Amino acid sequence: MARVLVTSPLSIDIRPILAGHEVIGGATRLDRAALLAGVADVEGLVCLLTDRIDAELLARAPRLRVVGNHAVGVDNVDLAACAARGVKVGNTPNVLTEATADLTLALLLAVARRVVESDTLVRSGGWTGWEPGQLLGADLAGRTLGIIGMGRIGRAVARRAAAFDLNVVYANPRPVDGSDAIHVTLEQLLAESDFVSIHCPLSASTRGLIGAHQLAAMKPTAILVNTARGPIVDENALIAALAAGTIGGAGLDVYAEEPRVPEALRRDPRAVVLPHIGSATRGTRARMATLAAEAVRDVLAGREPPNLVRT
Ligand code: GLV
Repeated sequence: MARVLVTSPLSIDIRPILAGHEVIGGATRLDRAALLAGVADVEGLVCLLTDRIDAELLARAPRLRVVGNHAVGVDNVDLAACAARGVKVGNTPNVLTEATADLTLALLLAVARRVVESDTLVRSGGWTGWEPGQLLGADLAGRTLGIIGMGRIGRAVARRAAAFDLNVVYANPRPVDGSDAIHVTLEQLLAESDFVSIHCPLSASTRGLIGAHQLAAMKPTAILVNTARGPIVDENALIAALAAGTIGGAGLDVYAEEPRVPEALRRDPRAVVLPHIGSATRGTRARMATLAAEAVRDVLAGREPPNLVRT
């Protein structure tokens, strides 16, 4: 029997998956201090994307063997430090692909068709009747969607885009098989796209990938959508680009320093700002919790989990 720490309440009870182990935590959200104190004598950890699993934490967790990260992105985990200490890491691939792709389209449509502004107008009692020029938005059919990062989620977005008659181009380190979308350079994508959607992981090479220069290269009417990770976009440059009108709008689910959302974005009617809910469907969150717990269970049983993160 091993001891497993869960850093937060999850959407389902994972204790049955970890049957035979002593599961501690899971009733409240642990802050950093409680997390550092809590890992002292645990062999397994089920954590969230908001928990930093770094060298400081590992130094305090001499018995730790496995981390089940309740997210597909592992930018919160220092994989090199884990590997150096022989700590295995599992994540939650596949299970959130469709939900995140759905939310990407929801954001794209919400910004393009000014859904939040329209809803606000009606709720405020300010709608005085149908007008031909009221709340005009962007057309989708025949326009171009540029996908940055053509992994599982990027490809799922491309599939949905086809139903809206969008032409899809993508920038990716290498072309992908089985997609009608066209592989282009990032420069071409930024210049040609009416909508730009980010789906690459956050890494040293993608941090700040979309900065002032890239925003200036986009069409002044273009809409940027980010459901990946906030730091891929230089948030101050985005605010400046919106203010200067060098891009047309933004649909954001992620931010540079969550949960801080800059006031300039919260005030801007051309931005739709969501609280990192890409994977927030009941089924998806249940599957994420299951996969994170199963990774811990498998490693503790001496088995390699299918969702092991390779370094
Ligand atoms: C969510 O943002 C995830 O990476 O799973």
